[in-house]
Amino acid sequence: MERTLGMEIVRVTEAAAMSSAKWIGKGKKDEADAAATTAMRNMFDTIQMEGIVVIGEGEMDEAPMLYIGEKLGTGNGPKVDIAVDPLEGTNIVASGSSNALTVLAIAERGHLLHAPDMYMHKIAVGPEAAGQVDINASVADNLKAVAKAKNKEIEDVVATVLLRDRHTQLIQDIREAGARIKLITDGDVAAAINTAYEGTDVDILFGQGGAPEGVLAAVALKCLGGEIQGKLAPQNDQEIERCHRMGITDINQVFRTEDLVKGDDALFAATGVTDGELVKGVRFQKHYVTTETLLMQAKTNTIRIIQARHDVNVMEK
Ligand code: FBP
Repeated sequence: MERTLGMEIVRVTEAAAMSSAKWIGKGKKDEADAAATTAMRNMFDTIQMEGIVVIGEGEMDEAPMLYIGEKLGTGNGPKVDIAVDPLEGTNIVASGSSNALTVLAIAERGHLLHAPDMYMHKIAVGPEAAGQVDINASVADNLKAVAKAKNKEIEDVVATVLLRDRHTQLIQDIREAGARIKLITDGDVAAAINTAYEGTDVDILFGQGGAPEGVLAAVALKCLGGEIQGKLAPQNDQEIERCHRMGITDINQVFRTEDLVKGDDALFAATGVTDGELVKGVRFQKHYVTTETLLMQAKTNTIRIIQARHDVNVMEK
């Protein structure tokens, strides 16, 4: 899959990033998201594959494009599941802050969890602590396990958490256990990847974010040898009913990396929209635009950073 689709998916996330970057700092998150979604959707038409969106912009009746079940690609080529988050960090782009990405993952058909659009409790770690944490254990026990696995003092462990009111107790528990915290305003896909990415100085992600983002993070962590565990967090009876319709009878079921993405025939691509720890954001020059993309392959754990220079005159044709 990598040889045929690797560079193709990079072109898709690059196009989405260049379109949404025009909205950086304009206070218009929906417009930034729509620009990314349209650019991503248009680029998919050119790819030789039989793709189906399993994680997308919503159900068919609520999203005009990249909706769940939409067929993408030319219809010839590998049969794949597609997970997209055309703009991960809509508020980040609107406010012009760091770490907004355009994100895409593909896997062999039937191998990605069709996660419903609701919250998910998550815990994610990098390769050294993979297999050592448990989403059902206490925060303190998980921090101790990470410290031990990484041969650190607990005071040197850094946990990343979305800054939300729902995380007040979690933040207090992490501080009481003695670890440090990096609070983020948005973007828990990048935050999950950071736990497994050298040089980011983050050891573990805790907290509730979107379930679709959990599947995307799972593909990335599989490529990096890390681990994610998730538990759906339905907020009302309708969401509970939605879980049941999906065949999830036990709401407390733990989804492990392998449940979120089966096997290792999977690819992950993310292009920076604004500057971040993983990749630089889009830069507009007079005659060209530059992008930086992280492309990863689960089968071989190959990680590539692709820097591209796009000629404005060619792009406008
Ligand atoms: P959007 O780009 O869709 O705004 O999502 C950003 C994000 O921060 C995700 O990374 C995260 O999983 C989710 O929102 C958290 O949701 P909420 O903002 O409702 O707490």
